This record gives sequence, structure tokens and C-alpha cells, in this order.
Amino acid sequence: MITVEKLTKSFGPKLAVDNISFSVAKGEVLGFLGPNGAGKSTSMRMITGFLSPSAGKVSVCGFDVVEQGLQSRSRLGYLPENAPMYSDMSVFGFLSFCAELRGLFGSTKARAIDRVVQLCSLQPVLFQSVDTLSKGYRHRTCLAQAIIHDPEVLILDEPTDGLDPNQKHEVRTLIREMGREKAIIFSTHILEEVEAACTRAIIIDRGKIVANGTPAELKCRAPLAGTIVVSLSGIGWQSVQPDLSTLSFLDKSELISESDSKTMFRLQPKGDLLPEVLTLAQKRKWRIDHLNVEEGRLDDVFRAITLPETEKASVE
Ligand SMILES: Nc1ncnc2c1ncn2[C@@H]1O[C@H](COP(=O)(O)OP(=O)(O)O)[C@@H](O)[C@H]1O
Ligand SMILES: [Mg+2]
Repeated sequence: MITVEKLTKSFGPKLAVDNISFSVAKGEVLGFLGPNGAGKSTSMRMITGFLSPSAGKVSVCGFDVVEQGLQSRSRLGYLPENAPMYSDMSVFGFLSFCAELRGLFGSTKARAIDRVVQLCSLQPVLFQSVDTLSKGYRHRTCLAQAIIHDPEVLILDEPTDGLDPNQKHEVRTLIREMGREKAIIFSTHILEEVEAACTRAIIIDRGKIVANGTPAELKCRAPLAGTIVVSLSGIGWQSVQPDLSTLSFLDKSELISESDSKTMFRLQPKGDLLPEVLTLAQKRKWRIDHLNVEEGRLDDVFRAITLPETEKASVE
């Protein structure tokens, strides 16, 4: 539904988006992750046809966004950054105006407005003017505008920015549900959002794609993912170490802490280490307080990938 090929944008000497390619299929919710200034909004503006690319191509539902702008734009909904709106209109007036822009009139328009008012929970403010809305309602009004024509493709630029935790949860749920029937790209710098709503995520940094995968695949790239942390009672590190050296799938071991009665250490595997550790534990009758295979955290992946080399060294 969305195909992006070698997309590039420069503003004078500044290369904001640098040769990115990816595609999004129906039923996919793609999270667009990256630090501030990474090039997320610029990419989304080009996908929606609001900004022309310096090089590369974008197609939406098979239509080139530059050459067949009208066809591609009629099939997509766009929530821009900061949710700009006509502030002197009422919510109802604004949605009615947007519906007409999308070619909806009469009973079709009335049904479309009803549907988005329900979906975005706008009943309480329907006849309030846009400039008196709280940030949450303002945002949801803009989201309602983006989906009023029930588009096949949705581009949402930081759709949960500035919302409180309950509103964030509602918007994520809405995105996930709509994602079954549509192709959605949404940008965020909140990592938990990716796990909550995305089927796939792309991490973009300084204009380039630096990672592309499911949240689970990305988590495996966390520096500590797959390591085993063990805490034992009644045995010291000195006595544990010789036994560890017999493990064939152990890459390296590292002491985390040792007190009078407890020893905690981390094991880095180079194969299927867990069964070996459990067999050893049984044989030596270790008293295990805690044993955990680290899942990996998206935060760590994000930081490891997007921090400049110099800062990375100081974090490690
Ligand atoms: N119209 C513009 N003119 C000049 N530079 C721009 C313009 N729009 C964005 N940029 C620059 O391009 C880079 C990417 O910006 P943006 O796409 O807004 O990042 P993000 O949405 O990931 O925070 C930033 O360095 C930004 O300052
Ligand atoms: Mg942005």
C-alpha cells in the first residue's frame, strides 16, 4: 500500500532524509522511531505529498504521490505534527468542512462525522470552538479529520504527543484496531508505543534507516538480550567459577555482586546455554534465588543504535 524508494530530501546543505527505502502492506502498523531531528516528519511530509522529494519515489496504493497526487492523496489520511486546525470553527463545523473537502455530502457526510465522533470520543465537545479545546481533544479532533473518509492509508505524525496516559492508551488502541484494515505509519519517540501498537518498526537516525524489524526482533539486538542472570545463596564466586568453565555454550561470565551469602552473575551464551546451566545447578545443588534470561529492552536498542559514537563509549 505504501512504497518508498530511495527517498531523499535536502534543505540547502542539510540532508534531512538520506536515501531511505521501505514498504508497508495492508494490516501493518509501522512505527517510525527516531530521536528529534532524525527526519521522521520530513519523510512523512513527502509520503503525504506535502513536500516534494529531492530524489526518490513514493507510491500510495499504486499511485505516484508526485505525478498522481490527487489519486494518492484521496486514499490517505494525515495527522500532521502539532495538529494544526482552523481555530474559530466548532469541532462539528471543522469535521463537516473536512468531510466536504473529501467529497462527502448529505447523509454520507453525516454518517462519516458520526463514525469519527464515536471513534475519537468527541461527543462532549462537538459544538465547542476548536481554540477552546484541551490538548487531548484538539489532538483527537485532528485525528478524526485524518480518518473522516475512512482512508486505506494513514500517516500519523506523533499522534500521542501531549496526551495524558489514558488518552495515549486510547489512541494506541485505536491505531492498533484500525491497523487490521489499513496500512499505517506513525512516528513516535516513545518506545513503549512501538510494543503497544506496531507490527513492525523502523529506526531512523540522522536521515538514515538504521534498523527495521518486528519489536521482538529489535529487542534481540539489545546489548544484553539473551544473557542469563543467576543469583545463588550460600556459595561464593570463587567456588562457582571453576564449574562455569565446564559449560560448552558459555561465551563469558561476569560477576554482578557478591555479599556474605549471595552471589549474582551474568552469563553470556554462545549457544543453547540455559539447559547446561540448569543441569549444572542440579548437579551442584545450587540454591537459586533468581534466574532470568534477559529479554532485551527496546530502550537499549534505541540508545545503542542512535547515540553518537562518542557518547556510546561513555555510556558503556
Ligand atoms: N523546512 C526546513 N528547512 C530546513 N531544515 C529543515 C526543514 N524541515 C526540517 N528541517 C531539518 O531537517 C531535519 C529533520 O527534521 P524532522 O524531519 O522534522 O525531524 P523529526 O520529525 O524526526 O524530529 C532537522 O535537522 C530539521 O532541522
Ligand atoms: Mg517530527
